[in-house]
Amino acid sequence: MDYEKPLFFRVMQYAERADRDVIDMVSGNPDWEPPEALREGLREYADLPVSEYQYPPSDGLRELREEIASRRNVPIESVIVTNGTGEANYLAMAAALDRDAGEEVVLTDPVYPYYPGKTGMLGGEPVYAPVEEDGRLDPDAVRERANEDTAAIVVNSPNNPTGAVYGEDTVEALVEIAEECDAILVSDEVYDHFDHSGRFASALSVDSEHRAVTTGFSKSMAITGLRVGYTVLPPELAEPARTRHMLVNVAGSRPAQHAVLRALRETDPDYYEANRAMLEERIDAFTDALDAAGAEYTRPDGAFYVLARFDGFPGTMENVERLIDEAGVAGMPGDAFGESREDWLRFALVTPRAQEAADRLASFFN
Ligand SMILES: Cc1ncc(COP(=O)(O)O)c(C=O)c1O
Repeated sequence: MDYEKPLFFRVMQYAERADRDVIDMVSGNPDWEPPEALREGLREYADLPVSEYQYPPSDGLRELREEIASRRNVPIESVIVTNGTGEANYLAMAAALDRDAGEEVVLTDPVYPYYPGKTGMLGGEPVYAPVEEDGRLDPDAVRERANEDTAAIVVNSPNNPTGAVYGEDTVEALVEIAEECDAILVSDEVYDHFDHSGRFASALSVDSEHRAVTTGFSKSMAITGLRVGYTVLPPELAEPARTRHMLVNVAGSRPAQHAVLRALRETDPDYYEANRAMLEERIDAFTDALDAAGAEYTRPDGAFYVLARFDGFPGTMENVERLIDEAGVAGMPGDAFGESREDWLRFALVTPRAQEAADRLASFFN
């Protein structure tokens, strides 16, 4: 698998060129509304004085960092506002590799494809720990692959693509392994508002110099286009990460940070609750239809993706193209996420047509 150019774009392009109506279940772009206060924050920004159109502090608007630090109960110096969770992952992984405490990066298989891409770009060596059939991560699988050459262990919970949610025991064990190997646990928690199991534990719940948390507002506020995320880093990593962030970006987007700050302050928990409930309905409808199509799948405990396997129809790019042309449903080939799910297809439930898509799949396979 070539992780350098995300396969995602190829599938999207193929679906766009198709000569029929195609339900897009490829991207992770939410189709629901951002918080009202976010829209208000953007509107309000247009009329601010010209000074507000200039560089913000490189590591993020002070008030936004303060708000994040107080919500997450961490020192403000540990917070860097980034260009989405994508940059947060890059900074945390780069800082872990720059410590000269190893070159290997332990990832899971299946994996979110940008992690191996970033590992290669940063000169690291990926090592894969398999997860259970249902997506659960047994920390012993990581322990067996971690050693003094390990620079970072990169995990994601709630997980894309498996939907697994790691509980407190798993997160504690992962931090412990990072400590034992003098490595950094990088915990990508971008789907933390989409825990359908009630078991999600943030790595911030474990106090350690060996854990970094990365997250953002792309999914929780349905704003993948605004590019606001952040990382919480231990002191040893925060300074080099700040420098790298400044040299790469100068700074992040001031209007986007302003709007996110307003939304953080003014949005009730009901907003997040309603989106989670809506996704749970979609998961029910989609998995019921998968049952009707005779597919194998694991019901996601978190996030908004479903991995499914159809007998005799492996999740290759060729079969993805067939599903686009013949069923009118676009999903992702399983091999985009590593070797272990080559036979599977991943469907993103970010369309109000999830039920219709599942019905199309059921009639295609029956
Ligand atoms: C696991 C994971 N991490 C990070 C990202 C990127 O998030 P952001 O838009 O905040 O950069 C995604 C997007 O789909 C994701 O699935």
